Amino acid sequence: MRKRTIVTLPGDGIGTVVLEEAIRVLDAVGFNADYVHGDIGWNFWCNEGNPFPDRTIELIKKHKIVLFGAITSKPKDEAANELSPELQGKGLVYYSPIVGMRQLFNLDYCIRPCKTYKGNPLNFIRRANQGKVEEPQVDVVIYRQNTEGLYCGVEWTNPNEQVYNALMTHPKMKKNFSDVPKQELAISTRIFSKKACERIIRGAFEHARKFGYKSVTLCEKPNVLRETSGMALKIAKEMQKNEYPEIIFKATNVDAQMMWMTKNPEDYGVIVSGNLFGDIISDGFAGLIGGLGFACSANIGKDVAVFEPTHGSAPKYAEYPVSIVNPIAMIASACMMLDHIGEINMAKKIRNAVSKVVEQGKVRTYDMLKMHGSTDVINKGAASTQQMTDAIIAEL
Ligand code: NAI
Ligand code: MG
Repeated sequence: MRKRTIVTLPGDGIGTVVLEEAIRVLDAVGFNADYVHGDIGWNFWCNEGNPFPDRTIELIKKHKIVLFGAITSKPKDEAANELSPELQGKGLVYYSPIVGMRQLFNLDYCIRPCKTYKGNPLNFIRRANQGKVEEPQVDVVIYRQNTEGLYCGVEWTNPNEQVYNALMTHPKMKKNFSDVPKQELAISTRIFSKKACERIIRGAFEHARKFGYKSVTLCEKPNVLRETSGMALKIAKEMQKNEYPEIIFKATNVDAQMMWMTKNPEDYGVIVSGNLFGDIISDGFAGLIGGLGFACSANIGKDVAVFEPTHGSAPKYAEYPVSIVNPIAMIASACMMLDHIGEINMAKKIRNAVSKVVEQGKVRTYDMLKMHGSTDVINKGAASTQQMTDAIIAEL
């Protein structure tokens, strides 16, 4: 196996804690890599006025594969107040380095697998007949478009004349909003491009084919969002017919999907969706399989790929003398990285080890024991972050 170079961006808070744990697991499985550290996050905002320094961007450009922990973000005004005194008053404006990274490297799709670990006490259960309960086995992979749609950033409050006049050429705009003063209008646009739609829908079908999922579901709202969702639906239908006839294609509306999610989550395989709807359904499905301690993700562009847990920096837990957070989301994100670079067997080994530890139930972090996070959860029987990793490594 050739030696890889992986850029590690620990970030802030528990991001730094869980990333270290993932590297311990990667070492244990025999993954041969150099890890080069990149600066990102709150400290760099406060001390340099830039949460995503150019030197980090250069590192990513060079090495292309990134393991990312989590960062702390704060609202604009709070961010300005926390700048170091010599940077105050220079007009620096905080931006999210995550959004920045997605845009800069055009990480245009996000993959979020949500698979039930057998024996996880956090698994979703539902009522069955005769007072019984059943635990559906969820195995869903969400492909969420990451750069367009409602999060594309084309927005106005009190739009300028040119924009306002252009919008007023639309009959619906005229009919519904012509009596609203321009100053009272806030507008966010939902823009889809054919190219990005094709790329993510193809990604979803390829994933189904490669990993043996029976169906691909497009989750949108084409009956209302005729142009954007409508285009995605048309592309998906044609692609299935012409290129992936062996894979079942389904289309759901996002609102109904949220209802069906708890009714029959086992009926879905790969789900592909636009940016906002994908954000929502991926959190929803993650909730069925254990939530933030388990939710992993990949952000994939043409050249660069970034692998990260879905959770944030959980600052309140970062200073604990013994860390209590669950490292599985980060470890599972590292498995996605291994899949991406073709080390599928190593990923499988790690996933098996995690499954065994979860199923045996001897080592459980506080979230799995449904405790409130505090320093004394360890005394009450919860495993520390390191103990959870140790157990996974022991299984390996
Ligand atoms: P968070 O995900 O950091 O924490 C929310 C709660 O989830 C925690 O208090 C904890 O109870 C639980 N939790 C999170 N990760 C866990 C783990 N590995 N094991 C067990 N429990 C876990 O979200 P929050 O509190 O909304 O945001 C904290 C900071 O993180 C903010 O500054 C926010 O902007 C940032 N953030 C960063 C993200 C990223 O880097 N991708 C994503 C989400 C939030
Ligand atoms: Mg989200």
